[in-house]
Amino acid sequence: MGGAAWAEPDARALFSEHCAECHAESRLGGTGPALIPETLGRMYGPALQAVIGQGRAATQMPAFDEVLSADEIAAIASYLEEPLAETPRWSVEDAMATRDLSPDYTPAEAPVWSSDPMNITLVVETGDHHVSVLDGDTFDVLDRFATPFAVHGGPKFSPDGRYVFVMSRDGWVQKYDIWSLQVVGQVRAGLNSRNIAMSGDGKWLAVANYLPQTLTILSTEDLSVQKVIDVKGPDGTPSRVSAVYQAPPRESFVLALKDVPQVWEVFYGANPPQMGFAHDYRMEPPVKSADPFPLRKITVSDIMDDFFFDLDYEHLIGASRDGAHGVVLDMVIGQEIASLDLPGMPHLGSGITWPWNGTTVMATPHLKGNVISVIDMESWKTVKQIGTEGPGFFMRSHANTPYAWADVFFGPNKDKMHVIDKQSLEIVKTLDPAPGKTVAHVEFTKDGSKALVSIWEDDGAVIVYDAATLEEIKRLPMRKPSGKYNVWNKITFESGTSH
Ligand code: HEC
Repeated sequence: MGGAAWAEPDARALFSEHCAECHAESRLGGTGPALIPETLGRMYGPALQAVIGQGRAATQMPAFDEVLSADEIAAIASYLEEPLAETPRWSVEDAMATRDLSPDYTPAEAPVWSSDPMNITLVVETGDHHVSVLDGDTFDVLDRFATPFAVHGGPKFSPDGRYVFVMSRDGWVQKYDIWSLQVVGQVRAGLNSRNIAMSGDGKWLAVANYLPQTLTILSTEDLSVQKVIDVKGPDGTPSRVSAVYQAPPRESFVLALKDVPQVWEVFYGANPPQMGFAHDYRMEPPVKSADPFPLRKITVSDIMDDFFFDLDYEHLIGASRDGAHGVVLDMVIGQEIASLDLPGMPHLGSGITWPWNGTTVMATPHLKGNVISVIDMESWKTVKQIGTEGPGFFMRSHANTPYAWADVFFGPNKDKMHVIDKQSLEIVKTLDPAPGKTVAHVEFTKDGSKALVSIWEDDGAVIVYDAATLEEIKRLPMRKPSGKYNVWNKITFESGTSH
């Protein structure tokens, strides 16, 4: 009696029949997003079955509960939870074949609006995959454009503030012209990607990929793929790239690697430093001297995947994987010079700095502790641990404001926002603008006079605060607004902002 065996739904065949036209036979995505464990993340089991059964309202994603049985939906869900049998390749040619430049894009000679170009602020709305372009003085929405599915990491502006580049979880990089309010084009730089960084000269965009394990370098001019760098350790172990950072004074990109205890640096300037001369055995010579993007590899004592840089980019502070301490790496000599006591998974990527008591301090929230660490950047000693109502994700300040703002992203107090006095290092006020909702991420206007806070919900808002009186001025309805990005604060590397 083999009845049960042949009745097992064939998930692969069902996927081919019902899903592949949008999500691709390879599951790497097409008009619909990639459906692999790396991208589905916390969506598995019943949650995944619910999406397949009910679809997504107001999108192309249909409901399948009338077409497929519960068993068939469960079988497809399990199939999507399986990792791909092998790591797909994504060469320069593969990526180039996806490049799509908008045929009707016509660059304007001057902005088509009359706002202050340096005070334009973008709001990433992940609820329905759009970006709103705000006038930073009036808070009028100048445009609202569709992005690729699931924007990830911060958008990056060109150094003149005219263009912005947005990256999606599935590795699509979109270029948008803020002056013309038009999308210029897009290219798929990777298959599952983490973030992008802009070179100091504005010519190159580096894309950190998890899948495949590469760094992709794009020309910002026309989104052409310049180079794909395979990332692997000394024994050939491929490594995902956790993040790529821009280090403008060094004319380099710095890579945090997820699977190998090394920090990589990719130079793009005309005169990369002479490498290979150092007698430090841990520093490998550049791979090829004629390479337009020579590579330096620095071996470190432990895997580090979240970085913060001091203002002149001489020191990198990395969080160790054990979540208990940080390491200070001197980028000039390529050696670790100090260890910081940072228990509770610091989120260094959103750290900020300000002058304090004749020195400079950096402050970082912790993903697993109810605390913000304030560290003296000369002695590398912790000056204070500020107790909070829960673990935080983002911190922001601005040179013109006495306060640093810190969200309480995780835990029951996710609706709170702490306002910290940068001199006394005390919390002076805790805002609770939308009880029960996630309140997160702050950005300032160009002059630091207003603070913009997200109510991170599908039916959410951006709240505009007076940064001095801490009074609410305005609420702009938005669809799950995540980050907000002010042109001036980002292109000047305002020290109260993370990069
Ligand atoms: C007509 C095109 C189309 C078809 C057919 C289709 N999908 Fe989708 N699917 C989409 C789009 C578009 C989205 C993104 C929806 C959104 O914006 O949230 C999506 C989203 C999803 C998501 C959520 C992904 C995420 O990361 O949030 C899952 C899971 C999914 N689809 C599974 C399936 C399965 C399984 C099938 C076949 C049984 C299927 N889809 C068929 C277009 C399609």
